[in-house]
Amino acid sequence: MKKVVKNNVSWVGKVDWELRTFHGEELSTHRGSSYNSYLLEEEKTVLIDTVWLPFAEEFVTNLATEIDLNKIDYIVVNHGEVDHSGSLPALMKRIPQTPIYCTANAVKSLKGQYHQDWNFRVVKTGDQLDVGNGKKLIFVEMAMLHWPDSMATFLTQDNVLFSNDAFGQHYATEMLFNDLVDSCELYGEAIKYYANILTPFSAMLRKKLAEIAALNLTIDIIATSHGALWRQNPLQIVEKYAQWANDYQENQITILYDTMWNGTKTMAERIAEGIALADPAVVVKMFNVAKTDDNDLITEVFKSKTVVVGSPTVSNSVLHSTVGIIHLMKELKFRNKKAAAFGCSGWSGEGVKVLNELLTGAGFTLIGDGMRNLWNPDAAAQQEAVEYGKVIAKG
Ligand code: FEO
Repeated sequence: MKKVVKNNVSWVGKVDWELRTFHGEELSTHRGSSYNSYLLEEEKTVLIDTVWLPFAEEFVTNLATEIDLNKIDYIVVNHGEVDHSGSLPALMKRIPQTPIYCTANAVKSLKGQYHQDWNFRVVKTGDQLDVGNGKKLIFVEMAMLHWPDSMATFLTQDNVLFSNDAFGQHYATEMLFNDLVDSCELYGEAIKYYANILTPFSAMLRKKLAEIAALNLTIDIIATSHGALWRQNPLQIVEKYAQWANDYQENQITILYDTMWNGTKTMAERIAEGIALADPAVVVKMFNVAKTDDNDLITEVFKSKTVVVGSPTVSNSVLHSTVGIIHLMKELKFRNKKAAAFGCSGWSGEGVKVLNELLTGAGFTLIGDGMRNLWNPDAAAQQEAVEYGKVIAKG
């Protein structure tokens, strides 16, 4: 149902409380999500984005109870990904001639996905669309945040920035605004979203934030396409993004390990002990990667200055869970982070070397050659692991 965002701007999206994975099975969404679509009813009626394909019929039916669909003058597509454009085919069956304002790349993605030659109107940064009552929509291309077709749209006078994926969170809520939800949950999901989706585009994001700042827009509400809208101090999330986009790290060291018979786990525990002894101020966290959600691990990697990875040697290599998480770390192009490796072995013992190569290939700077232990760590080996932790703490 329609909810007022501000004056004649309403939310007409879908809250998806059941969603537990996104991008297929690639991204966990423990707190669900929402697909935020907006209706602007000035002299002109404008729909900004739609909702994910499975909710298309529900979306169009609900929208038709709020307004006569034929009264929609313009549709704005800020981003062609199916979670926002998925209801277009159902909607366009009802209003096939309605102009769709989007970037040139969005035309490519929409045609590629839906094979329709709708009435596209290509826009670029600075283009404006008059919506009446003295208000305009101003378009801002947001290429690679996070697709080449991404765009934001600003509504003058009401000062609402429809930012699409940027500044969003996979967070189901009926409360709509940031000041009405649990801020720990909100920030937990916002940082997870950034870490897992936007990290590779941080350099572009830094430039885009500077470009938006130079426009000197007064922003009263940031209306994202997922999760809660930023109404109370909306620039707080822009400031956070500026920090996150700047090779973000906290004073945290995270140990990621997998283990077969607990030898490598024992080493992990002693290394954590050594880190805490050497630097009581550092936050040390330890996770068995085979038992922990990958995307939650990536959020911890994002916050870390150093990541310590451990695996026993298996078949001249390492346990696949550790390869999987390092692959994600590489894909996300983390910068300015250190790493160290460790692991037990019974025979040949190549595991640490394999981890070193993987971590270097993922862009991490190694602290030393790593620690390898033959068989289960005895008292001396455990003390060596404590000392190794102290070395890691000092970086
Ligand atoms: Fe929320 Fe890139 O789609």
